[in-house]
Amino acid sequence: MADHNALKQTEDGLDVAAYVDADHYETEIQRIWARNWTYVCHVSALEGPLSYQALTVGRANLLVLRDAAGTLRAYHNACRHRGSLLVTEPEGRLSARLLVCPYHQWAYAPDDGRLVKTSSSVRTDDFNLDDFPLIPAGLQVWRGHVFVHPDANASWDSAQLFQRAADGLANFPLEDMQVAHTWRKELACNWKTFWENFNECLHCPNVHPELSDLVPLYKRRIVNRMDVPDWQTHEGSEDPSYRGGLREGAETWSTDGSAQGHVIASLSAEDLARGQLYASAWPSVFMGGYGDHVRVVRVLPLGVNRIELRAEWLFERNVLEDPGYDMSNVVEFACLVMEQDGAICEVNQKGLEGAPFEKTVLMPEEYLIKTFHDWVRSQLAEGTP
Ligand code: FES
Ligand SMILES: [Fe+2]
Repeated sequence: MADHNALKQTEDGLDVAAYVDADHYETEIQRIWARNWTYVCHVSALEGPLSYQALTVGRANLLVLRDAAGTLRAYHNACRHRGSLLVTEPEGRLSARLLVCPYHQWAYAPDDGRLVKTSSSVRTDDFNLDDFPLIPAGLQVWRGHVFVHPDANASWDSAQLFQRAADGLANFPLEDMQVAHTWRKELACNWKTFWENFNECLHCPNVHPELSDLVPLYKRRIVNRMDVPDWQTHEGSEDPSYRGGLREGAETWSTDGSAQGHVIASLSAEDLARGQLYASAWPSVFMGGYGDHVRVVRVLPLGVNRIELRAEWLFERNVLEDPGYDMSNVVEFACLVMEQDGAICEVNQKGLEGAPFEKTVLMPEEYLIKTFHDWVRSQLAEGTP
């Protein structure tokens, strides 16, 4: 029997406590979220001087901005006076050339974080502006995608960033694409529940009837033609239920399957035959490449049973300049799928919160969840920093 992807035996899932226990959540924040690079946004979402993005990663409030010269900078979003947030919106543009705290108006220079002035009229001899700069955070850009780390000295290895390799996205012009739509939603589920859902298609026929029509393989509850032991029986089949890819005639993940004349020219025939290509950088982001666009989905934990999801849709600039291109064709389709997933993740979480047993179980098709669980376990095992 040819090798296949499915698990050769069932496997224990994570303990139920991992989804519902507040102490376990704190441990994950310290050992996973505080020690990994977190995705911020595509560079085009930080357009122009003084634009910023702010996010909370566990206990760290982080801020990425473009200084007046256009250089990206990252700091902790914490005023050195009495600790207030410096910006309160998730994205925006600084209204002045200095970063001014909303509480008592201490003002910092965006380019190096130095404290430029306080609002006190009395100066004591002991106080020195140089002693209170913003705390820098780590900042890296991978192919147009901005990542932050609470530790400014954290090591960066783009080859280690993706647990699900980004090679599949090699032919997408990621650096030159443009964010044209953003969607945010909070969900009542644990962050791992989200990743588990993303990593299997056992749920696809029932939860995603429209998507399963577009990607016939998903009707078989698998994500790759090699997920079943007898996959070789169908080798060479042109039926998308067996070879994978989109239904006959479809070009991209959209409501009608059409790319409206804008299939990305740099994609290979093989890329297009796949229909969807993914890269995941746990714990915070996956990137999905489709015929005419890329969708980047970020998850952030807000609590043991709460997450914030944000999706960005990237297009080539010529698509956005075409008044005939209707973006809602791809946006509405993905929102439908993400709403369906969100709803079932909340159902999953509710069940976990009252589950009268300690462990869940993984079935053969859930081999990617096994990889994810092994990654989570290894991260937790590495101990506190
Ligand atoms: S806390 Fe920022 S100026 Fe006081
Ligand atoms: Fe799904």
